[in-house]
Amino acid sequence: MNVLQTTNLCKNYGKLKAVNSLNLTIEEGKVFGILGPNGSGKTTTLGMVLGVTKPSSGSFSWFGKGNDHEVRKQIGAILERPIFYPYMNAQQNLELNAAIRNIGTESIEKVLDMVGLLHRKKDAFKGYSLGMKQRLAIASAMLCDPKVLVLDEPTNGLDPEGIADVRQIIYDIAAMGKSIIIASHLLYEVQKVCDEFCVLRLGNLIHQGPVDGFSEQSKVELGSADMSKLREALASVLGISQVIEKGKYLEISGGKGFNAAEMNATLFQHGVTLNHLQVLEQSLEDQFLKILKENDGPTV
Ligand SMILES: Nc1ncnc2c1ncn2[C@@H]1O[C@H](COP(=O)(O)OP(=O)(O)OP(=O)(O)O)[C@@H](O)[C@H]1O
Ligand SMILES: [Mg+2]
Repeated sequence: MNVLQTTNLCKNYGKLKAVNSLNLTIEEGKVFGILGPNGSGKTTTLGMVLGVTKPSSGSFSWFGKGNDHEVRKQIGAILERPIFYPYMNAQQNLELNAAIRNIGTESIEKVLDMVGLLHRKKDAFKGYSLGMKQRLAIASAMLCDPKVLVLDEPTNGLDPEGIADVRQIIYDIAAMGKSIIIASHLLYEVQKVCDEFCVLRLGNLIHQGPVDGFSEQSKVELGSADMSKLREALASVLGISQVIEKGKYLEISGGKGFNAAEMNATLFQHGVTLNHLQVLEQSLEDQFLKILKENDGPTV
């Protein structure tokens, strides 16, 4: 089932096409990343699908059911930080949040525990670190036991420990079977937590696919005491003639279905002993930059 589907969704600000005819399909049970540089339309997209920003044209549907009030109850979101009062503690702030949104207070302890704040629930919000504030915001979004959690730049401004905490919370919530949609300009974050991602550039969708599939484009570095024999065996036995000289090693493309152990065994059978074999996974960052470069044409 699809969690979210947008059809030709557009948002114009005057002449600016902040989001341009976006067709996005997000499947259930995935951690989905919306990746893109600053100003590419991530927040505007989330604003539209969360009912905060009015689309200029196009439509969207949650859970294949549309976007009415009932459907929205199943979405937990942090777009703008919820209002928390500095002198109230976490428990009181969540009680107030629940009252404003007309939802029960019975899950407050559970969501505080989920984000590791149960032991701090009686402490005033004003004494919270930025990371704790962000975790309380996630707790607030989880109050209604949503089917899908939507986060806009969840780790913005956090230190490495705060980032790791939020990442763990995302893993935990995903393990509960929830779908999660994360907008981020941080490639590394998306690579770490997302199953699938899309890339926006100047309001246009320029890529969508699994994060995993990217390792298919890995490169492999090989070394042997007898490099000419290695070069020859690669060409004659494995049919690989495209090699790049990398200092004392050779670099070849891994390609789809590549199996390093099999290659090593085959080369060994043909009298080539490797003294170096390293699979270099192409990072999402390399791929992202490549995707942006390939789509460098005028799009606005
Ligand atoms: N209320 C607004 N009025 C006018 N232009 C806007 C408004 N909101 C967004 N924009 C413009 O729309 C474009 C997309 O903005 P958006 O905030 O969606 O980008 P983003 O991908 O979330 O960026 P960031 O990574 O900086 O958060 C930008 O050019 C921005 O200036
Ligand atoms: Mg944004």
